[in-house]
Amino acid sequence: MSVISIHSNVRDYSVTFQADGNFIRPFSRFPERLFVIDENVWRHHRHGVLGDIPETERLLFAVSEERKNLNSVMELYDQLMSRSAKKNMTLISIGGGIVQDITGFVASTLYRGLNWIFVPTTLLAQADSCIGSKTSLNYKSFKNVVGTFYPPAEVHIYAPFLTTLDNADFLSGLGEVVKLHIMGGAKSTKELIDRLPLLMLREPESLMQIIRASLAIKQEYMTGDEFDTGRRNLLNYGHCFGHALETASGYAIPHGQAVVMGMIFANSVSVNRGMLRPETGEWLLRELLLTSLSVPLREEYFDARELLQSMKQDKKRVGSGLVMVLLRDDFSLEKMNDFSEDELSLGIDGLRQLFEFPDWC
Ligand SMILES: NC(=O)c1ccc[n+]([C@@H]2O[C@H](COP(=O)([O-])OP(=O)(O)OC[C@H]3O[C@@H](n4cnc5c(N)ncnc54)[C@H](O)[C@@H]3O)[C@@H](O)[C@H]2O)c1
Ligand SMILES: [Zn+2]
Repeated sequence: MSVISIHSNVRDYSVTFQADGNFIRPFSRFPERLFVIDENVWRHHRHGVLGDIPETERLLFAVSEERKNLNSVMELYDQLMSRSAKKNMTLISIGGGIVQDITGFVASTLYRGLNWIFVPTTLLAQADSCIGSKTSLNYKSFKNVVGTFYPPAEVHIYAPFLTTLDNADFLSGLGEVVKLHIMGGAKSTKELIDRLPLLMLREPESLMQIIRASLAIKQEYMTGDEFDTGRRNLLNYGHCFGHALETASGYAIPHGQAVVMGMIFANSVSVNRGMLRPETGEWLLRELLLTSLSVPLREEYFDARELLQSMKQDKKRVGSGLVMVLLRDDFSLEKMNDFSEDELSLGIDGLRQLFEFPDWC
């Protein structure tokens, strides 16, 4: 068992890496508690690590992106109030980013803040979203536009949850892991490349290693900018074009895989601008980005007009130009506000060629 401490302006909190599955029972120390558990996680782990949770203390939640909204929040308020929830209640959430976002929002707002514990069960939630304090809900067709900053008091990471994750969800998490390791520099990138074969097999020790490294890198980018007004913006590397592609595909491309495409795109822009040497771009492309991409791509996803439209709607965009976080050859990142429509067209042509002609650089 090892622990990392995270500083937050809301409250400091801890991330504990659990070596075995006996970490649930000690939650009985909280006098009033409710476990909100992703229904799929419950189904897979009810006879194992979750076996000790009494029926009266658990609430199963069927997750879907469509349910990540205020209606679900109100349903949970109802459930909590019907159990006579008081300010001293502890909410223990077990699931991926959707459970995290909904229950985190509930925990941050009911009685202006309940004690909240989070047990992430997806690669994305373990390696990325469990730290950073954000809770996000969708409003109508707008994704993640309603939310709060409210970290859990404790995060507990148990890598064996990941053995039951669907391949698509595993690969989606992998995209964020790749992004964080590139953002960590050449050394962490190389380490990830070396571990990739074992990681794909979900070997527990490799999973623990890369989750720990991902969180340490994310923590470094959040330091001093918890509320996302400066350096933390750089975590949007791969997301500017990635989000647009995710939308253009009607969400057929899982988020993390769209982020991988977004990094391929951003790096080609960096190479064209002379910020990244072609050799470095090629190394990242061949050794890491293409190897972590496993999604069928269709030509209609690359419609320049639609992609441009989506990029213009980027909620982080403030000026008149398009936003793009670009990688430099020393692996530092820079947020550009002057990304042009011509560069977008050029980049899209490049992607079309890459996926038709594998020799493209
Ligand atoms: N708050 C933040 O900082 C933050 C950051 C990134 C993403 N997000 C949000 O997170 C959501 C995506 O989260 P996610 O990728 O963790 O997945 P998820 O919560 O959408 O879960 C994906 C699927 O995996 C299932 N599942 C979860 N754990 C499992 C397990 N151990 N075994 C088998 N099945 C399991 C779920 O039931 C679901 O079907 C999005 O809504 C995104 O906006 C939030
Ligand atoms: Zn992301």
